Amino acid sequence: MQSVTLTREQAAVFEAIEHTREHVFVTGRAGTGKSTLLSHLNWHTKKQIVICAPTGVAALNVGGQTIHSLFRLPIGVIADHAIDQNDQVRKILNAMDTLVIDEVSMVNADLMDAMDRALRQARQRQAEPFGGVQVVLFGDPYQLAPVPGDLEERRYFADTYRSMWFFDAKVWGETSLRIFELGEVHRQSDDRFKYMLNAVRHGMVTAEIAGVLNETGARRPLPEQGAITLATTNDTVNRINRAQLKRLPGEPLANPAEVNGDFGGRTFPADERLELKVGAQVMFLRNDTAIGPDGQRWVNGTIGTVVSLDGEVIVEIDGEEHEVEPVTWEKYRYRWDPAAKKLEREIVAEFTQFPLRLAWAVTIHKSQGASYDTAIVDLGSRVFSPGQTYVALSRLTSLEGLYLARPLRPSDIIVDRDVERFMSGAMRPQLDGE
Ligand SMILES: Nc1ncnc2c1ncn2[C@@H]1O[C@H](COP(=O)(O)OP(=O)(O)OP(=O)(O)O)[C@@H](O)[C@H]1O
Ligand SMILES: [Mg+2]
Repeated sequence: MQSVTLTREQAAVFEAIEHTREHVFVTGRAGTGKSTLLSHLNWHTKKQIVICAPTGVAALNVGGQTIHSLFRLPIGVIADHAIDQNDQVRKILNAMDTLVIDEVSMVNADLMDAMDRALRQARQRQAEPFGGVQVVLFGDPYQLAPVPGDLEERRYFADTYRSMWFFDAKVWGETSLRIFELGEVHRQSDDRFKYMLNAVRHGMVTAEIAGVLNETGARRPLPEQGAITLATTNDTVNRINRAQLKRLPGEPLANPAEVNGDFGGRTFPADERLELKVGAQVMFLRNDTAIGPDGQRWVNGTIGTVVSLDGEVIVEIDGEEHEVEPVTWEKYRYRWDPAAKKLEREIVAEFTQFPLRLAWAVTIHKSQGASYDTAIVDLGSRVFSPGQTYVALSRLTSLEGLYLARPLRPSDIIVDRDVERFMSGAMRPQLDGE
């Protein structure tokens, strides 16, 4: 676990979570340190906290459990159906002080309300929102949206809620959500680039801004080596990676993952069968756990090149060679320990693989949370979801590293109206004068 020193605004949010029982939404632009703060909270809080996330990969990334498995909720719309709870689930829901949800922008209103109801039921406090539990949400609604379900589900939402978003859940009619917007961006340092990214985020890209982005990004030949392509679809990503692997000489070395326990479906954090060749461009999927004299050798998102597969896997990063060992991802479940009267985290499944993935290309969706110094953004034939272009461009640490496979078009910038409504109405700087 790398330790960063929290900035003043990050520390203020930590204090508010730690010393009040208010429900809190921690948001902010890409790179403002939301994930960094969540990880700090996990290590430093004195409260009994439980961390969960809407998807398996997001849960693995924060060392938490998926919402569905924590609450034992059925898949799909829950509406007002009875919620079954066994003893074990009831005990966990009773023991927690604080429920932390990461990537909350992917949680829909129905699921938010189901968590509220499950907590009231388990804690036998029907009149109290979330049964008295403090709820802490992390995420940026300008990035990932909840996945729209099938036609029936979409009808249910249209009839029941103002929008699918978590902030339109009914529970917020009974209690309030205090919003903290982190303002300081740490991923980029150039003010002009930060300004342009903010314009993309809010759909305020002027011809001048588009001009600068396109002049820099689309007027240069694309780099042959060393840059990752961020694409909109899995098909494009797989095609690029397969084609590039094939271009390298020799047969690939295939490493099967070791899987123990139940991963519930196929939400593996890395390839089940990882194929590598010497020369392959790879991305690290985990932060380096061994911190040497020079600090961390890589973080989640670092790009390197495989230089040897002779017995051990050697990856070169910025001219330095490092041996990479397989790592184990642990899938957790919370359990109530009656003897110690504490919530314990127990491991229910393990997945062991090299923390590497072929990385000539990744989907924009999978690039969530990562930072890149150089990348080729390939928006393909069209951008199809709100925030996609913002997520892609905001992965870059500087404008100099940005390449565009084709110039940006006005239709690439899509901002969700519900997000705008919520963020403009609710957002007030709350970090000063704490
Ligand atoms: N207090 C800090 N001191 C130094 N570096 C920081 C600090 N907070 C965040 N960073 C760095 O800034 C970068 C972005 O942080 P982080 O990934 O937590 O942002 P985020 O808000 O989760 O972004 P995204 O919305 O893209 O997921 C990381 O490289 C992180 O290490
Ligand atoms: Mg993050």
